[in-house]
Amino acid sequence: MLVVVTRKLPRAVEERMRALFDVELNATDRPLSQDELASAAARADVLVPTVTDRIDATVIERAGPRLRLLANFGVGVNHVDLRAAQARGIQVSNTPGVLTDATADIAMLLILAVTRRASAGERLLREGRFTGWTPTFHLGTSLRGKRLAVVGLGRIGQALARRARVFGLEIHYHNRQRVSRQTENELAASYEPDLDLLLAEADVVSLHCPLTPQTRHLFSSERLSRIRPSAYLVNTARGEIVDEAALAARLRSGGLAGAGLDVYEAEPEVHPDLLGLDNVVLLPHLGSATEEARLAMGQKVIQNISALAAGEPLPDTVLP
Ligand code: 8YV
Repeated sequence: MLVVVTRKLPRAVEERMRALFDVELNATDRPLSQDELASAAARADVLVPTVTDRIDATVIERAGPRLRLLANFGVGVNHVDLRAAQARGIQVSNTPGVLTDATADIAMLLILAVTRRASAGERLLREGRFTGWTPTFHLGTSLRGKRLAVVGLGRIGQALARRARVFGLEIHYHNRQRVSRQTENELAASYEPDLDLLLAEADVVSLHCPLTPQTRHLFSSERLSRIRPSAYLVNTARGEIVDEAALAARLRSGGLAGAGLDVYEAEPEVHPDLLGLDNVVLLPHLGSATEEARLAMGQKVIQNISALAAGEPLPDTVLP
């Protein structure tokens, strides 16, 4: 069984893969071109892509008869054409659960950093502009008693809500489906079926929905205008959920108090206007970037491949 891995994975994961499968690793970590991805799909039984690979219909059309599984290293599968895979009978798996805490931590970190103006504070200190404490120096916004709007109350949204409660935030949410009463009670979360109404009342908005054709630019210029000028937007989901140029324009014009971003529309590019703004905290897609999470993601990938090899149902199948 030939397994082709597109990027360099943690060493322990690669060693385990070498012990279990016939595996082609990417020692240099150079991203594969579309042509190289297609050629990998043409010879592999299992392809292990990441968020940086575009597994589109053209790559999938060129897949060989052996290709049976796209075992994604990561939860989000917006970079995989699921329908094209399904049409060819190729299964797709991902790595849910094991990066929930790490990603919720980064969302909480961004909420704290943007409301307390941490990046701007550090910048001014490093630039020698800290001239001493004063009663009115560099004031931010307190979280206790404020309203957090969670857009997408799935695994990561719920993990963020748990953290946010400890900081005194009230939880309000929008989701395709209302979550169970038990979960609502545990999080003291109130459901708002109308996204625009949820946004109009929020002090902090945090995005946790997957990127799909329905959520692409869900935060258009129009929708961003529903958020109050005193509120903050945090995105640890996918950049394309937000119209980044419209967000930069709103932040620049004072239509939003600030933003904390871990993901961008055209990574690794960041809209140049965002780079020049002081009221944004910008991280380089660090959601799951802990040793522990990346190791566990690799283990999930291996479990899915092993299940396929054993002819068992995959633990983490993704359906279109
Ligand atoms: C991963 C992520 O690092 O899992 C996801 O969906 O966004 C990240 O945490 C990335 O996807 C790895 O492919």
